[in-house]
Amino acid sequence: MAKIGVFDSGYGGLTILDAIRKELPQYDYLYLGDNARAPYGTHSFDVIYRYTLEAVKYLFEQDCALIILACNTASAKALRTIQQKDLLLINDENGDAALNGEKRKPVNVLGVIRPTVEAVPSITKTGHVGILATPATVSSESYVLELEKIAPELTIVQHACPMWVPLIEAGEHNGPGAKYFIGKYLREILAKDPQIDTLVLGCTHYPLMKERIDNWLEFRHELDESEFPQPTDSPKVTTIAQGELEAKSLADYLKRHPEYREQLSTGGTCTYLTTENADRFAQSASNFLSAPISAKTIQLGE
Ligand code: DGL
Repeated sequence: MAKIGVFDSGYGGLTILDAIRKELPQYDYLYLGDNARAPYGTHSFDVIYRYTLEAVKYLFEQDCALIILACNTASAKALRTIQQKDLLLINDENGDAALNGEKRKPVNVLGVIRPTVEAVPSITKTGHVGILATPATVSSESYVLELEKIAPELTIVQHACPMWVPLIEAGEHNGPGAKYFIGKYLREILAKDPQIDTLVLGCTHYPLMKERIDNWLEFRHELDESEFPQPTDSPKVTTIAQGELEAKSLADYLKRHPEYREQLSTGGTCTYLTTENADRFAQSASNFLSAPISAKTIQLGE
């Protein structure tokens, strides 16, 4: 029987895994964080694609039938090529997969951008939406292109937040450095468009700072930000985290796709893998998940 693989460059995918396990507790999961090579968001297309493909192949070899790229950067930069090229080489036209010379049932890889985009139009009232993401996700324009397809009337502004993932990976997201960079990026995106009332946290790491982000947004008019005054008539801003959206979308996908659902084992377990030190990963992941876990170190690539 097969598992659901959940992949991220580091700790961010845990926010997606947590929500998926609440929605679909019965399945067995394998989480892989490529912490040794995080952050992905400042790398080029070629590097992100190569790292993501190595992780996907590894998870397929560990008997995953379905892999969620719980990473916007990998979803934006690598998902399309993996779906249109690599999966066609693995799955044949009869729906069988060939992996390591072994015949298997079909396998698939899904991303996090589409389920998020679908939720945006019903949330914004002003029609002005901001996307906060890694530099790689922003440069891919994936959110803008996908939103233009389903809601061309919206005004979309993007902003890259290159310091947020390194702060979270370093466990510094509750410290004063994070406070500075939260204020900096939020001020910058709201200066681009003060009518924004919906901010997409377009990186799975960002929900780990959601409380602080929401707090800054709520009290921004009262902050001592004399250099960057916030217009007092600007709208209340709602932030969108992706966990629940992805979880509902996966539940719906599995209902519609028995070819994957029927392969999945239902022991309710989760195994954690990292490319970094397993104890350090387990310690940080336990804080993010508010429950102790143990992890194993694996190696990806050459
Ligand atoms: N959590 C990831 C994302 O959603 C990756 C961030 C990174 O490694 O830069 O984009």
